[in-house]
Amino acid sequence: MTRMKWPPDLPSPVQPVHWSLTVECGIKMWVKRDDLIHDWVSGNKYRKLKYNLQKVKNSEYKGILTFGGAFSNHLYAVAGVCKLEGIASVGIIRGDGFDPANPTLAFYKSAGMKMYFVSRTEYRSITDDIIQNILINYPDYLIVPEGGSNEDGVLGASEIMHEFYSQCDIQPDYVLVAGGTGGTAAGILQSLKPSTALRVYGALKSDYLIQEIHRLSRLEQLPSGFRYYPETIFGGYARWNQELLDFITEFESETGIEIDHIYNAKLLYAFKEHMKNGVIPSGSRVLWIHTGGLQGKAGLRYRMHKKQNSGIVH
Ligand SMILES: Cc1ncc(COP(=O)(O)O)c(C=O)c1O
Repeated sequence: MTRMKWPPDLPSPVQPVHWSLTVECGIKMWVKRDDLIHDWVSGNKYRKLKYNLQKVKNSEYKGILTFGGAFSNHLYAVAGVCKLEGIASVGIIRGDGFDPANPTLAFYKSAGMKMYFVSRTEYRSITDDIIQNILINYPDYLIVPEGGSNEDGVLGASEIMHEFYSQCDIQPDYVLVAGGTGGTAAGILQSLKPSTALRVYGALKSDYLIQEIHRLSRLEQLPSGFRYYPETIFGGYARWNQELLDFITEFESETGIEIDHIYNAKLLYAFKEHMKNGVIPSGSRVLWIHTGGLQGKAGLRYRMHKKQNSGIVH
């Protein structure tokens, strides 16, 4: 089913998750389906772009300029939202160049995004001459950081829990969310009731994100129930193996909920371990925020196909 209504219908649904493992472990689980918000601007991307978009519409800005990789959910959503709103978009992309077979890049292009490809080293340094020479051409564009995790992004993400509390009276003990640049977790922290603990499952190996979430949340202290788990199971950002792919297939067929391999599958896999070893104790009530990222499934198929054809076994 396609979801193209713009602006989208909110609130996003809250549903019970029918997963036998939660029953075995004595855990009640619900999901907030932000993945259903919109096909182009899905999940936490809608949340983080909402106020950035408002800023562009209410000002003299001519467009949005932002950053990301060749498979980025964020760039995909920026390209999509700008097309829906008739706003110009520019992407500074970490990557080798345009490949029309890459479905994510093909979407950026079809949505009208102006693309600049830079090397990984250049990408890491915003002060690099190459990036500065691009930025100089767009003085009247709103510059949004990678992942959309600026102040307006955090404000939008804070609405996830406000919306949840106003749509149902479930009182979760734990909220689970995936972490990449930290803005979503920071927004959730701003609006979480003190009786609920936030568990952030990182997509990256490093635990640098703890400081970033703290900084973006503007809280004096991270609450005692906050925990961050870096990605130590599958080897880091965007890496996968057959075990992860099998887990995705099983989870999707059992629950009927599609998940991406970079963020939500890894969260759920680590959560599965936490249920089994009692890190999340029996009797707990858990709310998982589904942050979308499903466009990445086409990107994964493309990458698998490329690997097969190059003879590399992952
Ligand atoms: C699908 C998905 N889930 C979760 C995240 C992590 O969100 P954040 O970058 O705000 O930590 C991202 C990336 O930003 C994402 O694309």
